[in-house]
Amino acid sequence: MVTVIIGCQWGDEGKGKMVDFMSQDADMVVRVQGGANAGHTIVSGGQQYILHLIPSGILNPKTTCVIGHGVVIDPKVVVEEIALLKSLGVSVEGRLKISNRAHLVMPYHKVLDRLKEEAASAATGSKIGTTGRGIGPAYMDKAARTGVRVVDLLKPEQLKKKILENIAFVNKVLEGVFNAPEIEAQAIMDEYLAYDKELDSYITDTGALVNQAIRDGKKIVIEGAQGALLDVDLGTYPYVTSSNTTAAGAATGSGIGPSKIDKVIGIVKAYTTRVGGGPMPTELLGETGENIRQVGKEFGATTGRPRRCGWFDAVVVRFACEASGVDELVITKLDVLDQMPSLKICSGYRYEGELQKYFPADLDILSGAEPVYEEMPGWQAPTTDIKEFSALPAGAQNYLNRLEILVGVPIKLVSVGADRMQTIHK
Ligand code: IMP
Repeated sequence: MVTVIIGCQWGDEGKGKMVDFMSQDADMVVRVQGGANAGHTIVSGGQQYILHLIPSGILNPKTTCVIGHGVVIDPKVVVEEIALLKSLGVSVEGRLKISNRAHLVMPYHKVLDRLKEEAASAATGSKIGTTGRGIGPAYMDKAARTGVRVVDLLKPEQLKKKILENIAFVNKVLEGVFNAPEIEAQAIMDEYLAYDKELDSYITDTGALVNQAIRDGKKIVIEGAQGALLDVDLGTYPYVTSSNTTAAGAATGSGIGPSKIDKVIGIVKAYTTRVGGGPMPTELLGETGENIRQVGKEFGATTGRPRRCGWFDAVVVRFACEASGVDELVITKLDVLDQMPSLKICSGYRYEGELQKYFPADLDILSGAEPVYEEMPGWQAPTTDIKEFSALPAGAQNYLNRLEILVGVPIKLVSVGADRMQTIHK
């Protein structure tokens, strides 16, 4: 049984908690795209830690965790996460599997990421607002067929040659385009040659492993990172990440056929958030947005940046669900809205007097789109201890039922707090 869990907004939908909830009895959890731009908070001994690359399913001793070939892997981050987990008494031996086909994030990717953002900011005042983790440049090298792959770590001579070739090119770009200092190859070669020893025992053909697990009838959860509207093909381009965050990315990034996916679960917040630049039609710039940010603790797990907050946008979620063939929805952070006197849901956009039925590709239209809102009374009562849908305040039930109708996908679970127990079946 293969279940794909993806975010259906701009990321940070609370996938971490839901993957954790749904992976309790999973044999395998697989990451398929993105890199250390993602962040999942885990709690151990009252302390909070953030994992960026190793799936949080690693905390379950019977779960095998796979970093699939669609991920761009920063080996430094993986080594740090392995050490962190060991210090917490979590053994990853035999349970962490890293794809030999995955591409590596190199130190120069992070330098280029930062310089490109600074240059865009200086030239136009507008940047993507990346996480600075080198994601875009790493995927650029992958698509340009110049990337360094995990399998190269196992062949020192090939690794050195590739690093030297890449750095020669990068240095020309640094000098000619950015007027920035050159990068020194030796230190990078030494650092990356050492990763072979540290990561060797985890490196394998994970595609073969996942396909074997499917044949063995294992329970597999594929965990998407970021959200559908950050998908490089379907999202608010260019204000997107550089991978396929929609459900299709689960197949290409793990090496399984799309026909092997049994269920796609879409995670959405009861409102909308976004980090970084780009249009967000339902953004609330005033007090209400600030209130949602504070109550919902809407600050980035990877960068700590305040998230932009706004009303639920049904156009966004409908589009995301269609693009991913979402079977079931999970609504998270409903409790954040508990004290709102009234709530708005965006059911469509109006642009130059015309109603837009579909999520537009043209960012000028999206930026100029006026959300068409439905307003509903809030419930102004706590929901955090409620265990059944029928026990939710009538206003909360009405709100959820309306979201379901506007999106056109059944809601299966509702989350009303960070704890695994604070999850209601609908
Ligand atoms: P990048 O993936 O670091 O290149 O960033 C590109 C865009 O995706 C920026 O707007 C980031 O804020 C956003 N982004 C990347 N990863 C995440 C995430 O895990 N959650 C939310 N936004 C993200």
